[in-house]
Amino acid sequence: MNQRPQLSAADQRRLDGLAASFGDLRKRNIGYPCNQDFDYSELAPFFAWSANNIGDPFGPSNYRLNTLGFEREVLGEFARLAQAEEGQWWGYVTSGGTEGNMYGLYVARELFPDGICYFSEDTHYSVAKVLRLQHTRSIMLKSQPNGELDYTDLRETLRIHRDAPPIIFANIGTTMKGAVDNLATVRGILAELAIPASYIHADAALSGMILPFVDEPQPWNFSAGADSISISGHKLLGSPLPCGIVLAKKRNVERIARSIEYIGALDTTIAGSRSAFGPLFLWYRLRTLGTSGVTEIVRRSLELAAFAEERMNAAGIPAWRHKNSVTVVFPRPPAALMEKWIIAPKGNIGHIITLPHVTENIITEFIADFVKARP
Ligand SMILES: Cc1ncc(COP(=O)(O)O)c(C=O)c1O
Repeated sequence: MNQRPQLSAADQRRLDGLAASFGDLRKRNIGYPCNQDFDYSELAPFFAWSANNIGDPFGPSNYRLNTLGFEREVLGEFARLAQAEEGQWWGYVTSGGTEGNMYGLYVARELFPDGICYFSEDTHYSVAKVLRLQHTRSIMLKSQPNGELDYTDLRETLRIHRDAPPIIFANIGTTMKGAVDNLATVRGILAELAIPASYIHADAALSGMILPFVDEPQPWNFSAGADSISISGHKLLGSPLPCGIVLAKKRNVERIARSIEYIGALDTTIAGSRSAFGPLFLWYRLRTLGTSGVTEIVRRSLELAAFAEERMNAAGIPAWRHKNSVTVVFPRPPAALMEKWIIAPKGNIGHIITLPHVTENIITEFIADFVKARP
C-alpha cells in the first residue's frame, strides 16, 4: 500500500519530456505575469499528506491536517502591506486573483443587492463572468487610451443611475497595460455626486505586490478607500500552484458568514476544500525573502522594465509603460515572433512583463527577433 507508485518506461519518458519542455519554455515565458524564479523544494515532504484548509482561517476546524496558522500569518503580512485597519479586516488565501475578485464582488452584492457594478473595458476577462454568475447588474465603462478608467464616463454613468448603490471594480494594474485606476479620483466623483453608499473592490493581481515596495505608490489600498482587495500569489512572488489572497473589511464579512456543523467552521470562503499548500508556499516565500528580498525583486523588475522600454524604443519599436509598472506595452508583434516567444497579445498591442526569471539577455534576444520579424 505504501510502496512508491511505478511508471512504465514510456510514461516516465513523457514526464521527462514535459520537464525538459518546461525548462526550455521558462525563459521565453515573458508575456504572462508569472514569476518562474523560485525554489520551494524544502516543502516537498509535505506532499506526503492530504492537508486541507477547509473553512475560515480564523476559526476552529474539525480537519486538523491544515496550515491555518501559517495562513493567518500570511494574511497578517498582506493586511499590513495593504494598510488594513488593525483588527478590522478579514481574509483568506484563495486559489488565485479570480477567486479574490469573486469574493470581493460577492461581499459587495450581499451588502447592496440592488447595486450596479461599474468596471472598465480594460478589466480582466473573468470579471464579467463573475458578475453574470452572481447576477449582479453591471455596466462596462470606457477606458482611456492608457488603460485607466475614463473618469468622465464614470461620472456621467453614475449620475444617470443615482438610485442604485455603486460597486466600483477598480483595476490596480490592468492585465494588458498595467494601468492603475485612481481611487482618489473615484472617491472624489462619489463625493461630488453626494452618493451616500458605495463599495470599492481593488483588483491588485500583480501590482498589489509592487506598490507596497516603491517610494511613490499610486493610491491603491484600504487607506485609499478600498473595501476589499484581491492579490495573486503566483504572479510577482511566484509559486508552482496558483494562489492568491483576498482581504475585506471585517464588519462587511460578518454580515454574510454562516456556521456549518459538518466542518466545524464558519463558511466564509467561496471554496469548501481549500489548498493547504497556497498558504504554506506564501509563508515560505515571505519568510525566506523578507521585506528586503521582496523590495529587491520589485526594484530589479522595475529596472529591467525601464531597460526593455528604452532598448525597444532605440530599436524603433514604440514601447511604453506606466509609473511603477513592470508591464512594457508595444504594438502587437508579428505572428512569427509569437511562435518562439510566449506573448499575450490583445487587439493591436502586446506586452512583456519583466519578472525575475527575465534577464537583460532575454530581452535583448527578444528585441533582435522582433526587429527581424517585422515586415
Ligand atoms: C488584472 C488582473 N486581474 C485578475 C487576474 C486573474 O488572476 P488569476 O489568474 O490569479 O486568477 C489577472 C490575471 O492575469 C489580472 O491580470
